[in-house]
Amino acid sequence: MKTIHLVLAATALTLAASCGQTSSRTEAFDGPAYLNPSLPVEQRVEDALSRMTTNEKIAVIHAQSKFSSAGVPRLGLPEVWCTDGPHGIRAEVLWDEWDQAGWTSDSCTAFPALTCLAASWDPELSLLYGKSIGEEARYRKKDVLLGPGVNIYRTPLNGRNFEYMGEDPYLASRMVVPYVKGVQSNNVAACVKHFALNNQETNRFTTDVKVDDRTLYEIYLPAFKAAVEEGGAWAIMGSYNLYDGQWNCHNDRLLNTILKGEWGFDGVVISDWGGVHITDEAVTNGLDLEFGSWTNGLTEGMSNAYDSYYLAKPYLDKIKAGEYGEDELNDKARRVLRLMFRTNMNPEHKMGKFTSPEHSEAARKIGAEGIVLLKNEGGILPLDGVKNVLVVGENAVKMMTVGGGSSSLKAKYEVSPLDGLKAALSPKGVNVSYERGYVGDASGSYNGVTTGQDLSEKRNASQLVADAVSAAKNADVVIFIGGLNKSDNQDAEGADRLQYGLPYGQDAVIEALANANPKLVVVNISGNAVAMPWVDSVPAIVQDWYIGSEAGNSLADVLTGKVNPSGKLPFTFPVAMEDGPIKTEAQYPGIPTGKNFAMFRFTEETYSEGIYVGYRWYDSKGIEPLFPFGYGLSYTSFEYGEPSANSLSMTKDGGITFTIPVTNTGKVAGAEVVQLYISDKESSIDRPEKELKGFGKIFLESGQTGIVKISIDADALSFFDAQKHEWVAENGEFNALFASSSRDVRKTLTFNLK
Ligand code: BGC
Repeated sequence: MKTIHLVLAATALTLAASCGQTSSRTEAFDGPAYLNPSLPVEQRVEDALSRMTTNEKIAVIHAQSKFSSAGVPRLGLPEVWCTDGPHGIRAEVLWDEWDQAGWTSDSCTAFPALTCLAASWDPELSLLYGKSIGEEARYRKKDVLLGPGVNIYRTPLNGRNFEYMGEDPYLASRMVVPYVKGVQSNNVAACVKHFALNNQETNRFTTDVKVDDRTLYEIYLPAFKAAVEEGGAWAIMGSYNLYDGQWNCHNDRLLNTILKGEWGFDGVVISDWGGVHITDEAVTNGLDLEFGSWTNGLTEGMSNAYDSYYLAKPYLDKIKAGEYGEDELNDKARRVLRLMFRTNMNPEHKMGKFTSPEHSEAARKIGAEGIVLLKNEGGILPLDGVKNVLVVGENAVKMMTVGGGSSSLKAKYEVSPLDGLKAALSPKGVNVSYERGYVGDASGSYNGVTTGQDLSEKRNASQLVADAVSAAKNADVVIFIGGLNKSDNQDAEGADRLQYGLPYGQDAVIEALANANPKLVVVNISGNAVAMPWVDSVPAIVQDWYIGSEAGNSLADVLTGKVNPSGKLPFTFPVAMEDGPIKTEAQYPGIPTGKNFAMFRFTEETYSEGIYVGYRWYDSKGIEPLFPFGYGLSYTSFEYGEPSANSLSMTKDGGITFTIPVTNTGKVAGAEVVQLYISDKESSIDRPEKELKGFGKIFLESGQTGIVKISIDADALSFFDAQKHEWVAENGEFNALFASSSRDVRKTLTFNLK
């Protein structure tokens, strides 16, 4: 038996985040210090700042176009260009319009949605993702990538969950750090968003979140903190909503006290587009760079109104009137200069790459590694020995890279699931046919980018089902590919979902297909959990995601067994919405307060479920989810051996390294994600039954045994004591749970903290 070792996912990845502070140039430099590439960034920043006029400083802290802010031409300091993010590089829009600029060279590689990346539980893939998308950004001469997003999955109704990394702060933290490092290795800043508590789209500009400190620090902040402290993020985006009565783009506590104070963030706080509303707060409360304001008095934009941005003339007037000195202005300008020197003024001069074969390969790999096999009875998957495959469902053909809001892309190409399956199966002599089954949303355009697909349909709903059922009767296997899409009230920015169930009558189509042919595979494409009332009548279920350019190839890789699925759910699938922690309107979508400001009618929302989000809730209530957090099947099976530890006693400054052997006991090679949950056996306060504190993904040939190593320190045992305002690990016994999902604990080891 071969034994291989895998080092913990939680250990730091060592890609150097270059700040451009070194240079091999040694020859004498007789220009101004800020242009001298061999000087440290801070020295260059201070020198540049000392040469700037007040007007020039004002100019660099607000937008000059939809996605750029001004430089200082007199000093040769460049403009800063931003782009969405987070799944690919957005198509070029006009200077001051959302309309397309009409470029013919801006069709990008569409990478998988961040839910898919998170489902891979593979920090190495996250590094590859960041590096690849960063290369695309650099090639397109962007300095700031508006992503990744790490808002926590609080409700399955949030339309933007697909842009985030799931319900668990530890998983999101481990996955965001390498993404940020990968992006920034290209001298492109990652702009981590949306800071913070931006967990829904309904009333996103007016929701005032009330949350206790323990919940804030334990659930909603850790991924941002990791991105800043460990990832070294150069930018962060304030969110639209309010926290404790103040908009988050100028929220004193979030930006000044926590981000810049407690975490020592030295980068740029960028507003979300249109998230700034009050000049005085924008000046004093931690915002550095203003974008997207609706400048005629908070309603809609006038053209080229950049001079009236809150941090433009209104701020300058206040400085001139003596209301402010230049301390705040210098701090903002200094941060923007630092951004310039880290990115476009970096002497490394990275060139980037756009739609390269390597990027397609990365997208396909990440896609396949993130797909989650939820059910596979009777070994129906992988497809084997079949001659006639019937594919049913709109999502088998619908392009998904267009739509969903600001993450919408103009992709160079997008392989649909149907085309991916045909490409994989037709050469093997398998006949792949297609039936629509239902009509979802036939539209396909966003912001002037259109799919060009004609999805119009003449048959009515019952005819569509009848045709699918009759074709299903003659197929060896039926693959239904449905789910949500990127239209409003599905998985989209600006409008939450209206229901937990599948839309467009898909449940009935699935039931009809299950009756017609017992060999049915349901592939759900979404960025959110959905109800599956038919779960018992369908033998195989696959959770697919918005995978981008390589969508169909990644899916075909998994369905045909070319890739053995190893994805694990980054969020819980409850049986029904009612099972979840959100019970009242005050929790979601919030209650109107009656208070107004200009066009805004505020809503107050209280996160009264506290830390009991996702599996923490279902565990605490003993509610069986449809599919739990961390769950995902494989075409092989894994057996966990006896775990051991270098010590079963830990001190507050020490740590423990656990090792656990895992054996692939099935017939094919595959990868397993070993999850380490920590459970505090006795605590002075109420704690979740268990919390994820480590994981390791290991690839094993059939019959092979490998060792997964996971190290923890006292952080893994701590809770946030709001009164003391510090993390506390209490002495006593803890259980280390080695699990294949949050509901499948295989081995336990008890240790103590002294
Ligand atoms: C979104 C951001 C996005 C920005 C620029 C906003 O509406 O919330 O995520 O980066 O637009 O497109």
